[in-house]
Amino acid sequence: MAYVEGSHHVTLSVAGAQEDVDFHVRILGMRLIKRTVLFDGSLPIYHLYYSNATGDPSSVVTTFPWAQAGFYGKRGTNQAREVLLSVPHESMDYWHERLTGHGVAVGNIEVLGQRRLAFRHPSGIEYVLVGNTGDERVGHTGHGVPQEHAIHGIHGVGLHVSTPERMVEFANESFHSRDRLLEEGDRAFLQIGDRKHGNHLELTVNRKDDQGTWGFGAGTCHHFAWNVGTLSNQNDVKFEIEGRGYTDISELKDRKYFKSVYVRTPGGALFELAVTHEEGGWHCDESPKELGTRFQLPEQFEHRREEIFSRLEPIDI
Ligand SMILES: [Fe+2]
Repeated sequence: MAYVEGSHHVTLSVAGAQEDVDFHVRILGMRLIKRTVLFDGSLPIYHLYYSNATGDPSSVVTTFPWAQAGFYGKRGTNQAREVLLSVPHESMDYWHERLTGHGVAVGNIEVLGQRRLAFRHPSGIEYVLVGNTGDERVGHTGHGVPQEHAIHGIHGVGLHVSTPERMVEFANESFHSRDRLLEEGDRAFLQIGDRKHGNHLELTVNRKDDQGTWGFGAGTCHHFAWNVGTLSNQNDVKFEIEGRGYTDISELKDRKYFKSVYVRTPGGALFELAVTHEEGGWHCDESPKELGTRFQLPEQFEHRREEIFSRLEPIDI
């Protein structure tokens, strides 16, 4: 039977590359595990990958810094909005102090009776730290973040939708949502697949904002990827989604480290169904220790190496 294991990664369109590296590595203490370029289109844009200690699926945040190409987006409704990251339940005070110390404005919010920390990426994208107990994914101890407070990985994603019913329908009928829906005010909470952590889908009813940007544009979340385990299961999930009438689903794309198809969901957010490459995933071009230390230009761009380097902004890692 087809299944969705949990999340795989989240991909954001950010503004500057350097401020993005500084935010994820120097402030959040995440591990830069891959430096490459966007594979779609012809504009040279970095593709940067950040993770917990091991880079396992459900721990990876990836970014395209679009400011250098002048692509800016608008946050709105019917798109993915909040990046939810999982930290140990007891770490809220630590992170409040650390973020504030780095000049990041932090809000204490309460969701389902639990304290969370809300703040923003320099490009404006909304980030939320969610406390969890028993999350065994190992955080990265970068830039002085101690192990007991390090970010485990993705907690989930927050979507803004004008009509939540359509998205709940999709999640239940076609996307292996667990059969328990929590609601609080104008929000709905689901979990995809059987995992305990990293697979939360949170919907906020938003009928006041305009439609947000779906294409690439700094300051917006481009897509959220789910881990479907194997290519044969990926095919089965795709087949089921199409069988429900959602034929806005892409052909298989080889992303070097994983293979993916993309589906535009009825809530507007773009979902990716990803399968880590059998031949090593992140480790196909760098050893586990070396991850992120060298710039990786995929073979199809090798003939443009000089031009690409002359156009990419320099970054200090
Ligand atoms: Fe992706």
